Amino acid sequence: MSTIDTNTDLLTPILDTYKAEKGSVIGLLQDIHEAYGYLPEEVLGTVSSEIDVPLTTLYGLATFYNSFRLEPMGKHHICACVGTACHVKGAPFVVDTIERELKIKAGGTTEDKKYTFDTVNCLGACALAPLVVIDGEYHGKTDQKKVGKLLKTAGTETD
Ligand code: FES
Repeated sequence: MSTIDTNTDLLTPILDTYKAEKGSVIGLLQDIHEAYGYLPEEVLGTVSSEIDVPLTTLYGLATFYNSFRLEPMGKHHICACVGTACHVKGAPFVVDTIERELKIKAGGTTEDKKYTFDTVNCLGACALAPLVVIDGEYHGKTDQKKVGKLLKTAGTETD
């Protein structure tokens, strides 16, 4: 469990705005996500009692919308496209390689918090299929060998 102080300067103004404007719970969660980079468990607990919405409802929303993250991101963000064009060009093999190399499934973060791996449906650059994005940089026409090298580079360049 993390040790986030839920009474920080981050949460109070967000809750104040929500209460003053009678905003939507989704909007509130989006603001919290933007402030923290994810939705910390302790913060959701505080929010639940502050706005009188059951914690299970907040978790239901947080898990329904996959733009919400319940864990902090790793240092490096790996994203593999699994849209149709990328799929037919071999994305499943690329995904297998990433999951095997990082020892996590899509949507997860390595224990050392070094990598977070996600999949996405079409990044709008289908001519580059299969496409992998590492820390915002597009890498097209990847395969198992190429993605293995890319992961090693991402892990060593700034450490
Ligand atoms: S399907 Fe992968 S970029 Fe379009």
